[in-house]
Amino acid sequence: MGRTTDFRYNTGATKVPWAAVGENYNVNDLMEIVKFLMQGEGPEYEEAIKNVKAQIEKLDAVSTPPGKLSLAYQVEKAETASNEYLGTDSSTFVTNATAGFEIAYKYANLKPGDEVIVPAITFVATMAYPLSIGAKLVFADVDPVTINMDPKDVAKKITPKTKMIVPVHIGGYPVDMDPIMELARKNNILVLEDAAHAFGAMYKGKKIGTIGDFAAFSFHEVKNITSFGEGGIATTTVPGFKDHMKRARFVGMDSEHKIKDWLYDVAAIPGKEEPFVAVNYSTTEIQGLGLSLQIARNEQIIEERRNAAAYLNSRLAGNPALVCQDLGNDDIKPTFHLYLLQIVPEIAGGDVQVFKKKLQDKGVTNIPHFGPLYRFRVTEQMGYNADEIAKTCPVCEEVFYKRFTHLPLYGLTKEQLDYMADAILETIEEMQAGK
Ligand SMILES: Cc1ncc(COP(=O)(O)O)c(C=O)c1O
Repeated sequence: MGRTTDFRYNTGATKVPWAAVGENYNVNDLMEIVKFLMQGEGPEYEEAIKNVKAQIEKLDAVSTPPGKLSLAYQVEKAETASNEYLGTDSSTFVTNATAGFEIAYKYANLKPGDEVIVPAITFVATMAYPLSIGAKLVFADVDPVTINMDPKDVAKKITPKTKMIVPVHIGGYPVDMDPIMELARKNNILVLEDAAHAFGAMYKGKKIGTIGDFAAFSFHEVKNITSFGEGGIATTTVPGFKDHMKRARFVGMDSEHKIKDWLYDVAAIPGKEEPFVAVNYSTTEIQGLGLSLQIARNEQIIEERRNAAAYLNSRLAGNPALVCQDLGNDDIKPTFHLYLLQIVPEIAGGDVQVFKKKLQDKGVTNIPHFGPLYRFRVTEQMGYNADEIAKTCPVCEEVFYKRFTHLPLYGLTKEQLDYMADAILETIEEMQAGK
C-alpha cells in the first residue's frame, strides 16, 4: 500500500506511487517511540513491552501507513483547533515560536540599522533575528510589578527609525497592550507579540496573540502545552497577510500556480514595503497530532496552574517582605506559566540573590532564566555596551538583581506547594534574623 499523493507531486492515481522515493516507519521504529515516551524497567515493564510489540505487529499487518508525515491533515487540524481556541483564522503551525517571529520580522522588511524595541527582560529568542541581521535593538525598561515591557518607557524610546515593538507576555502575564498599540498606530510601527508563554491568556476580552500585527506562541517542551518537544503557532492580524502565512512557512511554494514543465511555482512573500524570500519552518504530522490533543486540555491546565498560584498566594499573603503573583482580574487573565515572586529587600533584610540561594539549598527550584538581555556576551560581541544600556533600564536592573525570581507551579501536590511556601517563609525569617 503506497502513500497517498502529496500536493507537490500531485500526479493522481498511479501504479508506481511517488511515495516510492521515501521511507516510512516500521514496527521496530514505532516500538522505540513507545519505549521513549513510556519509559520503565523491570520484568513487568518488559512483559508489557513484549505485549505491545505483539499488538503493533498485528496492527502492522492490517494498517495503512500515513499518507503524509509532514504538513498535512494533522497539521491542519491543529491549526483549526488553534483558530477556534484563539478566535482567529491565521494560525500557522511552525517549528517553534522563534520561526514565527522571523516571519513577522521579515514582513517588516527589517534591515540593518532599523530599530526594534524589545523588553529588557525576556528570553534571547525574542531578539535573535534582529540581532542576527544587524538591526538595532532598543531595550525598553520593565514594569516593576509585572516585569513586562513598560509602555511609558517604550514611548520614550521610539525614534523615526523604530520599525517594530515586541511586547513579551512574560510568564503568561499579558502586557498592557492598549498603550502599546496606540503608540504603534500613531507612529506606523508594527507590533509583534512574543506570546511564547501566553497561549490562552486574555487581555480585555481578547486572546493574547490576536491584538498585535503578528504573534507567535511556543510549544517547546517546557511550555504549558507542547507538540512533542518543539513547535509554535504564528498568527497575524495584518489584512491580507494571513493568505501568505502558509507560503511564508514553506519556502514560498505555490502549488496553485505551476510554471511550464514544472509541478508548482515559488513566489516571494509580500512584505510591508517590499517582497521577501521565505525559508522552511515546516512541522510534522506527529507534532500536529500532539498539539491538537494538548490544545483540548489547555483550559484545564491553566485552571490547575491558577489554583496552584492562588494556593501559594494564600500561604504567602500578608508577609510584607513578599510580593506574590498577580492572579489577574476581569481584564487580565494570565496563563500562570511561571509564578512570579518578588521580595522587598528593605524588609526581607537582603536581596533576591541571597533569597534564591537559600531556596535552592532547601531544594526549591527557582529559575533565573529571564534577565537583562543586554548582559549576554553576544550583545556585547555585536557592539552593544551593557553598562550604557543598563542606565536606560534602571527598573530592570533593580528587579533582576534584587527582587524577583520565578517558581515552577505545575503538577505539584499540595504537600509540595506547602513545602515551597514553608521554605519561602523560613528563608525570609532567616534573612531577617541575619542568618
Ligand atoms: C519569552 C520567550 N520567547 C520566545 C521563546 C522561544 O520559543 P521557541 O523555543 O518555541 O522558539 C521562548 C522559549 O523559551 C521564550 O521563553
